[in-house]
Amino acid sequence: MKLTFFNTCQLPNSDIEKTARTLLPYLKHLQMMTDKNNYDFDESSINLPFDEKSAGEVKKLVNKLKTEKLKYIVDIGIGGSNLGTKAVYDALFGYFDIIQPNRYPKMIFLDTNDPEFITRLVKLLKGIKLPEEIVINAISKSGGTTETITNLEIVLASVDKTIANARLVVTSDKGSSFWNLATEKNIPCLEIPKMVGGRYSVLSPVGLFPLMMAGLDVDSVLAGARSMRNECLSESVLANPALISATILFLHNTKGININDNFFFHPELESVGKWYRQLMGESIGKDGKGITPTVSIGSTDLHSVGQLYFGGPKDKVTTIISAPSPETIAVSGNMMFPLVAHVEGKKFATVIDAICQGVAATYNNLKLPYMKVVLDDLSEKSLGEFLQFKMIEMMFLGKLLGINAFNQPHVELYKVETKKILSQ
Ligand code: PA5
Repeated sequence: MKLTFFNTCQLPNSDIEKTARTLLPYLKHLQMMTDKNNYDFDESSINLPFDEKSAGEVKKLVNKLKTEKLKYIVDIGIGGSNLGTKAVYDALFGYFDIIQPNRYPKMIFLDTNDPEFITRLVKLLKGIKLPEEIVINAISKSGGTTETITNLEIVLASVDKTIANARLVVTSDKGSSFWNLATEKNIPCLEIPKMVGGRYSVLSPVGLFPLMMAGLDVDSVLAGARSMRNECLSESVLANPALISATILFLHNTKGININDNFFFHPELESVGKWYRQLMGESIGKDGKGITPTVSIGSTDLHSVGQLYFGGPKDKVTTIISAPSPETIAVSGNMMFPLVAHVEGKKFATVIDAICQGVAATYNNLKLPYMKVVLDDLSEKSLGEFLQFKMIEMMFLGKLLGINAFNQPHVELYKVETKKILSQ
Protein backbone atom coordinates (compact mmCIF):
# COMPACT_ATOMS: atom_id res chain seq x y z
CA MET A 1 0.00 0.00 0.00
CA LYS A 2 1.25 3.45 -0.84
CA LEU A 3 -0.03 6.82 0.35
CA THR A 4 0.74 9.86 -1.80
CA PHE A 5 -0.05 13.40 -0.74
CA PHE A 6 2.85 15.60 -1.85
CA ASN A 7 1.57 18.52 -3.98
CA THR A 8 -2.03 17.26 -3.82
CA CYS A 9 -3.07 17.78 -0.22
CA GLN A 10 -2.77 21.57 -0.60
CA LEU A 11 -0.58 21.83 2.50
CA PRO A 12 3.17 22.53 2.67
CA ASN A 13 5.24 19.50 3.64
CA SER A 14 6.91 21.56 6.35
CA ASP A 15 3.54 22.10 8.11
CA ILE A 16 2.68 18.42 7.84
CA GLU A 17 6.04 17.37 9.19
CA LYS A 18 5.92 19.87 12.06
CA THR A 19 2.46 18.73 13.21
CA ALA A 20 3.18 15.05 12.66
CA ARG A 21 6.25 15.37 14.87
CA THR A 22 4.07 16.44 17.80
CA LEU A 23 2.69 12.89 17.71
CA LEU A 24 6.05 11.24 18.25
CA PRO A 25 5.65 10.92 22.05
CA TYR A 26 2.29 9.22 21.47
CA LEU A 27 3.86 7.02 18.82
CA LYS A 28 6.46 5.96 21.39
CA HIS A 29 3.61 5.18 23.79
CA LEU A 30 2.09 2.92 21.11
CA GLN A 31 5.46 1.26 20.58
CA MET A 32 5.62 0.59 24.32
CA MET A 33 2.21 -1.12 24.09
CA THR A 34 3.47 -3.39 21.35
CA ASP A 35 6.42 -4.34 23.57
CA LYS A 36 4.02 -5.25 26.34
CA ASN A 37 1.91 -7.16 23.80
CA ASN A 38 -1.16 -7.31 26.04
CA TYR A 39 -4.67 -5.86 26.17
CA ASP A 40 -4.30 -3.39 29.03
CA PHE A 41 -4.68 -0.20 26.99
CA ASP A 42 -7.35 1.60 24.99
CA GLU A 43 -5.12 1.14 21.94
CA SER A 44 -4.71 -2.62 22.55
CA SER A 45 -6.27 -3.53 19.21
CA ILE A 46 -2.84 -2.94 17.67
CA ASN A 47 -1.75 -6.20 19.30
CA LEU A 48 -4.55 -8.29 17.79
CA PRO A 49 -2.71 -9.34 14.60
CA PHE A 50 0.04 -10.83 16.78
CA ASP A 51 -2.29 -12.82 19.05
CA GLU A 52 -1.63 -16.41 18.04
CA LYS A 53 -3.62 -17.81 20.94
CA SER A 54 -6.81 -16.04 19.91
CA ALA A 55 -6.34 -16.94 16.23
CA GLY A 56 -5.65 -20.53 17.31
CA GLU A 57 -8.94 -20.72 19.20
CA VAL A 58 -10.78 -19.39 16.17
CA LYS A 59 -9.12 -21.99 13.92
CA LYS A 60 -9.99 -24.81 16.32
CA LEU A 61 -13.66 -23.89 16.24
CA VAL A 62 -13.65 -23.40 12.47
CA ASN A 63 -12.14 -26.86 12.00
CA LYS A 64 -14.90 -28.30 14.17
CA LEU A 65 -17.77 -26.56 12.39
CA LYS A 66 -16.66 -26.27 8.78
CA THR A 67 -17.90 -28.98 6.45
CA GLU A 68 -18.09 -29.47 2.70
CA LYS A 69 -21.83 -28.92 2.97
CA LEU A 70 -21.64 -25.49 4.61
CA LYS A 71 -23.83 -23.02 2.71
CA TYR A 72 -24.61 -20.14 5.04
CA ILE A 73 -22.89 -18.26 7.82
CA VAL A 74 -25.48 -16.06 9.47
CA ASP A 75 -23.56 -13.18 11.03
CA ILE A 76 -25.66 -11.38 13.63
CA GLY A 77 -24.20 -8.17 15.05
CA ILE A 78 -24.29 -4.44 14.50
CA GLY A 79 -21.82 -1.55 14.29
CA GLY A 80 -18.35 -2.62 15.32
CA SER A 81 -19.63 -6.17 15.69
CA ASN A 82 -20.34 -6.50 11.99
CA LEU A 83 -18.99 -3.71 9.77
CA GLY A 84 -15.38 -4.95 9.61
CA THR A 85 -16.43 -8.49 8.77
CA LYS A 86 -18.77 -7.23 6.07
CA ALA A 87 -16.03 -4.97 4.71
CA VAL A 88 -13.67 -7.87 4.07
CA TYR A 89 -16.36 -10.34 2.95
CA ASP A 90 -17.97 -7.91 0.50
CA ALA A 91 -14.60 -6.87 -0.97
CA LEU A 92 -13.70 -10.43 -1.90
CA PHE A 93 -16.98 -12.36 -2.15
CA GLY A 94 -20.14 -10.52 -1.12
CA TYR A 95 -20.23 -7.91 -3.87
CA PHE A 96 -20.10 -10.74 -6.39
CA ASP A 97 -22.68 -13.00 -4.70
CA ILE A 98 -25.43 -11.97 -7.10
CA ILE A 99 -23.45 -13.13 -10.12
CA GLN A 100 -22.06 -16.21 -8.40
CA PRO A 101 -25.26 -17.73 -6.99
CA ASN A 102 -23.70 -21.18 -6.73
CA ARG A 103 -20.60 -20.13 -4.79
CA TYR A 104 -20.77 -21.30 -1.18
CA PRO A 105 -20.50 -20.70 1.69
CA LYS A 106 -22.21 -17.32 1.66
CA MET A 107 -22.49 -14.91 4.53
CA ILE A 108 -25.82 -13.40 5.48
CA PHE A 109 -25.60 -10.31 7.65
CA LEU A 110 -28.24 -9.28 10.14
CA ASP A 111 -27.56 -5.91 11.69
CA THR A 112 -30.61 -3.68 11.90
CA ASN A 113 -34.12 -5.01 12.59
CA ASP A 114 -35.59 -5.28 9.14
CA PRO A 115 -38.94 -7.08 9.30
CA GLU A 116 -39.08 -7.64 5.54
CA PHE A 117 -35.58 -9.09 5.27
CA ILE A 118 -35.95 -11.36 8.26
CA THR A 119 -39.32 -12.65 7.08
CA ARG A 120 -37.70 -13.78 3.84
CA LEU A 121 -34.68 -15.14 5.72
CA VAL A 122 -36.93 -17.19 8.01
CA LYS A 123 -38.36 -18.89 4.91
CA LEU A 124 -34.84 -19.78 3.77
CA LEU A 125 -33.84 -21.03 7.22
CA LYS A 126 -36.92 -23.21 7.57
CA GLY A 127 -35.80 -25.02 4.44
CA ILE A 128 -32.44 -25.98 5.95
CA LYS A 129 -32.55 -29.51 7.20
CA LEU A 130 -28.90 -30.47 7.54
CA PRO A 131 -27.18 -28.76 10.47
CA GLU A 132 -23.89 -28.86 8.53
CA GLU A 133 -25.32 -26.41 6.02
CA ILE A 134 -25.35 -23.49 8.43
CA VAL A 135 -23.42 -21.73 11.17
CA ILE A 136 -24.92 -18.91 13.21
CA ASN A 137 -22.52 -16.44 14.75
CA ALA A 138 -24.00 -13.90 17.18
CA ILE A 139 -21.61 -11.11 18.06
CA SER A 140 -22.17 -8.55 20.78
CA LYS A 141 -19.45 -7.12 22.94
CA SER A 142 -21.89 -5.88 25.56
CA GLY A 143 -24.40 -8.64 25.03
CA GLY A 144 -27.23 -6.18 25.50
CA THR A 145 -27.83 -4.73 22.04
CA THR A 146 -31.53 -4.81 21.14
CA GLU A 147 -31.08 -5.37 17.40
CA THR A 148 -28.64 -8.26 17.84
CA ILE A 149 -30.55 -10.15 20.49
CA THR A 150 -33.91 -9.80 18.73
CA ASN A 151 -32.45 -10.87 15.37
CA LEU A 152 -30.80 -13.84 17.08
CA GLU A 153 -34.03 -14.91 18.78
CA ILE A 154 -35.92 -14.90 15.49
CA VAL A 155 -33.20 -16.91 13.77
CA LEU A 156 -33.04 -19.46 16.58
CA ALA A 157 -36.82 -19.84 16.57
CA SER A 158 -36.82 -20.55 12.83
CA VAL A 159 -34.20 -23.28 12.72
CA ASP A 160 -34.28 -26.84 13.84
CA LYS A 161 -33.39 -27.42 17.56
CA THR A 162 -30.22 -29.31 16.58
CA ILE A 163 -29.06 -26.32 14.58
CA ALA A 164 -29.83 -23.91 17.41
CA ASN A 165 -27.81 -26.06 19.81
CA ALA A 166 -24.93 -27.33 17.73
CA ARG A 167 -24.32 -24.65 15.09
CA LEU A 168 -24.35 -21.46 17.16
CA VAL A 169 -21.24 -19.56 18.20
CA VAL A 170 -21.32 -16.52 20.48
CA THR A 171 -18.64 -13.83 20.36
CA SER A 172 -18.62 -11.44 23.31
CA ASP A 173 -16.68 -10.02 26.22
CA LYS A 174 -15.74 -12.77 28.66
CA GLY A 175 -18.08 -12.44 31.63
CA SER A 176 -20.82 -10.46 29.85
CA SER A 177 -24.31 -11.78 30.54
CA PHE A 178 -24.39 -13.01 26.94
CA TRP A 179 -21.17 -14.93 27.48
CA ASN A 180 -22.36 -16.36 30.79
CA LEU A 181 -25.73 -17.54 29.46
CA ALA A 182 -24.13 -19.07 26.37
CA THR A 183 -21.56 -20.90 28.50
CA GLU A 184 -24.32 -22.26 30.76
CA LYS A 185 -26.01 -23.64 27.65
CA ASN A 186 -22.73 -25.18 26.41
CA ILE A 187 -22.61 -22.91 23.39
CA PRO A 188 -19.04 -22.21 22.26
CA CYS A 189 -17.90 -18.66 22.98
CA LEU A 190 -15.11 -16.61 21.44
CA GLU A 191 -13.65 -13.78 23.43
CA ILE A 192 -13.29 -10.10 22.52
CA PRO A 193 -10.56 -8.62 24.70
CA LYS A 194 -12.19 -6.15 27.14
CA MET A 195 -10.17 -3.12 26.10
CA VAL A 196 -10.76 -3.65 22.38
CA GLY A 197 -13.73 -1.52 21.35
CA GLY A 198 -16.23 -2.65 18.71
CA ARG A 199 -14.92 -0.53 15.85
CA TYR A 200 -11.35 -1.66 16.50
CA SER A 201 -12.28 -5.35 16.76
CA VAL A 202 -12.25 -6.64 13.18
CA LEU A 203 -8.93 -8.46 13.71
CA SER A 204 -10.26 -10.21 16.84
CA PRO A 205 -12.58 -13.26 16.73
CA VAL A 206 -15.34 -10.78 15.82
CA GLY A 207 -14.03 -10.77 12.25
CA LEU A 208 -11.68 -13.74 12.16
CA PHE A 209 -14.21 -16.46 12.95
CA PRO A 210 -16.93 -15.65 10.39
CA LEU A 211 -14.40 -14.73 7.71
CA MET A 212 -12.52 -17.96 8.17
CA MET A 213 -15.76 -19.94 8.12
CA ALA A 214 -16.53 -18.21 4.82
CA GLY A 215 -13.25 -19.44 3.36
CA LEU A 216 -11.26 -16.23 3.49
CA ASP A 217 -7.55 -16.38 4.17
CA VAL A 218 -7.46 -14.68 7.55
CA ASP A 219 -3.77 -15.48 8.02
CA SER A 220 -3.08 -13.11 5.13
CA VAL A 221 -5.39 -10.44 6.58
CA LEU A 222 -3.39 -10.67 9.82
CA ALA A 223 -0.05 -10.69 7.99
CA GLY A 224 -1.06 -7.51 6.15
CA ALA A 225 -2.08 -5.89 9.44
CA ARG A 226 1.20 -6.89 11.08
CA SER A 227 3.37 -5.34 8.38
CA MET A 228 1.23 -2.19 8.35
CA ARG A 229 1.49 -1.84 12.13
CA ASN A 230 5.25 -1.70 11.72
CA GLU A 231 4.95 0.95 9.02
CA CYS A 232 2.50 3.05 11.04
CA LEU A 233 4.68 2.95 14.15
CA SER A 234 7.77 4.07 12.27
CA GLU A 235 9.37 7.32 13.41
CA SER A 236 10.35 8.41 9.91
CA VAL A 237 7.49 10.86 9.86
CA LEU A 238 6.98 11.47 6.14
CA ALA A 239 7.03 7.73 5.40
CA ASN A 240 4.46 6.81 8.04
CA PRO A 241 1.04 6.65 6.30
CA ALA A 242 -1.10 6.78 9.45
CA LEU A 243 0.81 9.74 10.84
CA ILE A 244 0.62 11.64 7.55
CA SER A 245 -3.01 10.92 6.79
CA ALA A 246 -4.13 11.87 10.32
CA THR A 247 -2.08 15.06 10.18
CA ILE A 248 -3.51 16.11 6.81
CA LEU A 249 -7.07 15.51 8.00
CA PHE A 250 -6.35 17.41 11.20
CA LEU A 251 -4.71 20.42 9.52
CA HIS A 252 -7.64 20.79 7.14
CA ASN A 253 -10.02 20.47 10.08
CA THR A 254 -8.29 23.40 11.79
CA LYS A 255 -9.08 25.44 8.65
CA GLY A 256 -12.77 24.50 8.81
CA ILE A 257 -12.70 21.65 6.29
CA ASN A 258 -14.78 19.13 8.17
CA ILE A 259 -15.70 16.53 5.56
CA ASN A 260 -13.47 13.65 4.55
CA ASP A 261 -14.71 11.99 1.41
CA ASN A 262 -13.38 8.49 0.80
CA PHE A 263 -13.55 7.88 -2.92
CA PHE A 264 -13.19 4.16 -3.64
CA PHE A 265 -12.54 3.28 -7.27
CA HIS A 266 -13.74 -0.29 -6.70
CA PRO A 267 -17.42 -0.77 -5.88
CA GLU A 268 -16.58 -3.94 -3.96
CA LEU A 269 -14.86 -1.72 -1.39
CA GLU A 270 -18.02 0.20 -0.50
CA SER A 271 -18.41 -1.76 2.74
CA VAL A 272 -14.80 -0.95 3.62
CA GLY A 273 -15.90 2.67 3.29
CA LYS A 274 -18.84 2.07 5.60
CA TRP A 275 -16.53 0.42 8.13
CA TYR A 276 -14.31 3.51 7.98
CA ARG A 277 -17.32 5.79 8.33
CA GLN A 278 -18.09 4.19 11.67
CA LEU A 279 -14.44 4.23 12.74
CA MET A 280 -14.19 7.95 12.11
CA GLY A 281 -17.73 8.88 13.14
CA GLU A 282 -17.70 7.14 16.51
CA SER A 283 -14.06 7.75 17.32
CA ILE A 284 -13.76 11.49 16.85
CA GLY A 285 -17.32 12.79 16.64
CA LYS A 286 -17.59 14.10 20.17
CA ASP A 287 -17.09 17.15 22.42
CA GLY A 288 -18.72 19.20 19.65
CA LYS A 289 -15.83 18.27 17.34
CA GLY A 290 -15.50 15.86 14.45
CA ILE A 291 -14.92 15.29 10.78
CA THR A 292 -17.81 13.88 8.76
CA PRO A 293 -16.73 10.82 6.78
CA THR A 294 -18.45 10.21 3.46
CA VAL A 295 -18.09 7.29 1.06
CA SER A 296 -18.13 7.67 -2.71
CA ILE A 297 -17.76 5.05 -5.38
CA GLY A 298 -15.86 5.69 -8.58
CA SER A 299 -16.92 6.08 -11.21
CA THR A 300 -20.60 5.66 -10.23
CA ASP A 301 -20.78 8.70 -7.99
CA LEU A 302 -19.16 11.00 -10.52
CA HIS A 303 -22.57 10.79 -12.12
CA SER A 304 -24.38 11.70 -8.90
CA VAL A 305 -22.28 13.89 -6.61
CA GLY A 306 -19.35 14.69 -8.92
CA GLN A 307 -20.90 18.05 -9.76
CA LEU A 308 -21.13 18.94 -6.07
CA TYR A 309 -17.59 17.81 -5.38
CA PHE A 310 -16.08 19.78 -8.25
CA GLY A 311 -18.35 22.79 -8.28
CA GLY A 312 -19.84 23.03 -4.79
CA PRO A 313 -18.40 24.35 -1.52
CA LYS A 314 -14.72 23.69 -0.91
CA ASP A 315 -15.42 21.94 2.36
CA LYS A 316 -13.89 18.51 1.77
CA VAL A 317 -10.57 16.74 1.87
CA THR A 318 -10.69 13.60 -0.24
CA THR A 319 -8.94 10.27 0.07
CA ILE A 320 -8.91 8.45 -3.26
CA ILE A 321 -8.51 4.68 -2.84
CA SER A 322 -7.67 2.39 -5.72
CA ALA A 323 -5.80 -0.77 -6.64
CA PRO A 324 -4.51 -2.10 -9.95
CA SER A 325 -7.21 -4.18 -11.66
CA PRO A 326 -6.62 -7.42 -13.55
CA GLU A 327 -5.88 -6.67 -17.20
CA THR A 328 -7.73 -9.68 -18.55
CA ILE A 329 -10.80 -8.18 -20.17
CA ALA A 330 -10.87 -5.71 -23.03
CA VAL A 331 -13.46 -3.79 -25.03
CA SER A 332 -14.02 -5.36 -28.45
CA GLY A 333 -11.68 -4.20 -31.20
CA ASN A 334 -14.67 -4.14 -33.51
CA MET A 335 -17.35 -2.22 -31.61
CA MET A 336 -21.02 -2.51 -32.54
CA PHE A 337 -21.62 1.01 -31.19
CA PRO A 338 -18.42 2.97 -31.87
CA LEU A 339 -19.82 6.04 -30.15
CA VAL A 340 -17.05 6.72 -27.67
CA ALA A 341 -13.60 7.58 -28.97
CA HIS A 342 -10.33 5.91 -27.92
CA VAL A 343 -11.89 2.90 -26.18
CA GLU A 344 -11.94 0.35 -29.03
CA GLY A 345 -9.79 -2.64 -28.08
CA LYS A 346 -8.74 -0.97 -24.81
CA LYS A 347 -8.20 -3.02 -21.69
CA PHE A 348 -11.16 -2.50 -19.35
CA ALA A 349 -8.75 -1.77 -16.48
CA THR A 350 -7.18 0.99 -18.60
CA VAL A 351 -10.57 2.67 -18.98
CA ILE A 352 -11.35 2.85 -15.25
CA ASP A 353 -7.76 3.81 -14.56
CA ALA A 354 -8.09 6.73 -16.97
CA ILE A 355 -11.26 7.84 -15.17
CA CYS A 356 -9.52 7.63 -11.80
CA GLN A 357 -6.57 9.65 -13.13
CA GLY A 358 -9.00 12.11 -14.70
CA VAL A 359 -10.62 12.67 -11.32
CA ALA A 360 -7.24 13.26 -9.67
CA ALA A 361 -6.28 15.70 -12.45
CA THR A 362 -9.56 17.58 -11.92
CA TYR A 363 -8.91 17.84 -8.19
CA ASN A 364 -5.43 19.17 -9.03
CA ASN A 365 -6.78 21.71 -11.51
CA LEU A 366 -9.39 22.92 -9.05
CA LYS A 367 -6.89 22.90 -6.16
CA LEU A 368 -9.14 20.62 -4.14
CA PRO A 369 -7.14 18.80 -1.46
CA TYR A 370 -6.72 15.05 -1.75
CA MET A 371 -4.45 12.16 -0.95
CA LYS A 372 -4.21 8.88 -2.77
CA VAL A 373 -4.04 5.40 -1.31
CA VAL A 374 -3.01 2.75 -3.79
CA LEU A 375 -3.42 -0.80 -2.55
CA ASP A 376 -1.07 -3.41 -4.02
CA ASP A 377 -4.09 -5.44 -5.10
CA LEU A 378 -7.50 -6.48 -3.86
CA SER A 379 -6.40 -9.35 -1.64
CA GLU A 380 -6.82 -10.34 1.99
CA LYS A 381 -3.32 -9.05 2.72
CA SER A 382 -4.00 -5.62 1.23
CA LEU A 383 -7.30 -5.39 3.10
CA GLY A 384 -5.51 -6.25 6.35
CA GLU A 385 -3.02 -3.48 5.61
CA PHE A 386 -5.74 -0.92 4.90
CA LEU A 387 -7.79 -1.76 8.00
CA GLN A 388 -4.74 -1.51 10.25
CA PHE A 389 -3.60 1.72 8.60
CA LYS A 390 -6.96 3.35 9.21
CA MET A 391 -7.30 2.17 12.82
CA ILE A 392 -3.89 3.61 13.75
CA GLU A 393 -4.65 6.77 11.74
CA MET A 394 -7.75 7.24 13.89
CA MET A 395 -5.75 6.91 17.11
CA PHE A 396 -3.40 9.65 15.87
CA LEU A 397 -6.29 11.82 14.76
CA GLY A 398 -7.99 11.50 18.15
CA LYS A 399 -4.75 12.57 19.81
CA LEU A 400 -4.35 15.60 17.54
CA LEU A 401 -7.93 16.68 18.16
CA GLY A 402 -7.65 16.07 21.90
CA ILE A 403 -10.51 13.56 21.78
CA ASN A 404 -10.82 10.15 23.40
CA ALA A 405 -11.09 8.00 20.27
CA PHE A 406 -12.16 4.88 22.13
CA ASN A 407 -15.52 5.61 23.74
CA GLN A 408 -18.92 6.32 22.22
CA PRO A 409 -21.03 7.84 25.01
CA HIS A 410 -23.67 9.22 22.68
CA VAL A 411 -24.37 5.88 20.96
CA GLU A 412 -25.60 4.61 24.31
CA LEU A 413 -28.20 7.41 24.48
CA TYR A 414 -30.51 5.89 21.87
CA LYS A 415 -30.10 2.43 23.39
CA VAL A 416 -31.40 3.73 26.76
CA GLU A 417 -34.33 5.56 25.14
CA THR A 418 -35.25 2.51 23.02
CA LYS A 419 -35.33 0.30 26.09
CA LYS A 420 -37.58 2.83 27.88
CA ILE A 421 -40.02 2.86 24.94
CA LEU A 422 -40.06 -0.93 24.69
CA SER A 423 -40.82 -1.21 28.41
CA GLN A 424 -44.05 0.77 28.06
O1 PA5 B 1 -18.05 0.28 17.90
C1 PA5 B 1 -18.85 0.21 18.81
O2 PA5 B 1 -18.49 0.18 19.99
C2 PA5 B 1 -20.33 0.11 18.53
O3 PA5 B 1 -20.63 0.36 17.21
C3 PA5 B 1 -20.81 -1.29 18.87
O4 PA5 B 1 -20.06 -2.20 18.15
C4 PA5 B 1 -22.29 -1.46 18.57
O5 PA5 B 1 -23.04 -0.52 19.27
C5 PA5 B 1 -22.75 -2.85 18.94
O6 PA5 B 1 -22.50 -3.12 20.28
P1 PA5 B 1 -22.34 -4.58 20.82
O7 PA5 B 1 -21.20 -5.21 20.16
O8 PA5 B 1 -22.14 -4.42 22.30
O9 PA5 B 1 -23.62 -5.31 20.53
